[in-house]
Amino acid sequence: MADKIAVITGAGSGMGRAIAHKMAANGVHVVLTGRTQSKLDSVAGEVAAAGGSALVHPLDVTDPDQIQILANRLASGQVDMLINCAGDWLIKSVDDTTPEDLNHLFAINLRGPYLMTQALLPLLRKSANASVINIGSVTSMESHPMVTAYTAMKSGLRGLSGSLAAELKPDEIRVILLAPGPADTPMRDAASPGVDKSTLVPAETIAEMVWTLVSLPRGITTSDFLLTSLRYGG
Ligand SMILES: NC(=O)c1ccc[n+]([C@@H]2O[C@H](COP(=O)([O-])OP(=O)(O)OC[C@H]3O[C@@H](n4cnc5c(N)ncnc54)[C@H](OP(=O)(O)O)[C@@H]3O)[C@@H](O)[C@H]2O)c1
Repeated sequence: MADKIAVITGAGSGMGRAIAHKMAANGVHVVLTGRTQSKLDSVAGEVAAAGGSALVHPLDVTDPDQIQILANRLASGQVDMLINCAGDWLIKSVDDTTPEDLNHLFAINLRGPYLMTQALLPLLRKSANASVINIGSVTSMESHPMVTAYTAMKSGLRGLSGSLAAELKPDEIRVILLAPGPADTPMRDAASPGVDKSTLVPAETIAEMVWTLVSLPRGITTSDFLLTSLRYGG
């Protein structure tokens, strides 16, 4: 995929980092975004050491102005792939969840992918085969206790993905929700300390799946699906 450009949010760690590596190994120029410059620089260094090409552009997906600055920076070219991976988690009862918790999860897990897509749409329309991949969660499809706020945003992301896919059909831009199960990333380390990592989906497996999706021929797509470990949860 020479001359292809991928914008990846949350590229400094976990799935975003693994997706950046997979894309760069296949010749895609990766634009690494996230809030922490040092994490992005580290991934860019790894990509360069492996012979790939990366641009670091720190941004917070909760800030529309920062998103627009990225869109302006890339405006002379096209964007072939937008991978909305940045996200945050919350395990809390309904009783304890605050309005601030809700606003935070909305801003990063749902409004962020919306605004990123909206801002980059003119550049995605310039691509010969554009993809928007939204990283959901099992909670995009299933209901579990103690994660109501997270579930509201991740199931909302499923709705966003489906409606956007329908709206962008005339542009032949595929929009797909990929919903991983518990995955081996720093987020899972924080959410489930001590979890048996052999029961988790490797970040590299998620990156492989993203690569398969963005490699579909123009005009071909699929829709929401889970990617889970058979070993998780007994
Ligand atoms: N790990 C799991 O078990 C699991 C399962 C299903 C779905 N997911 C989803 O997978 C996605 C990736 O998570 P991960 O597991 O790879 O966790 P991760 O390693 O913690 O990655 C999340 C990334 O998002 C970035 N980020 C956080 N807030 C941001 C913001 N406001 N703006 C821009 N970037 C931001 C973080 O970097 P900075 O802090 O530097 O910004 C971090 O690099 C998330 O959407 C998560 O909900 C995770």
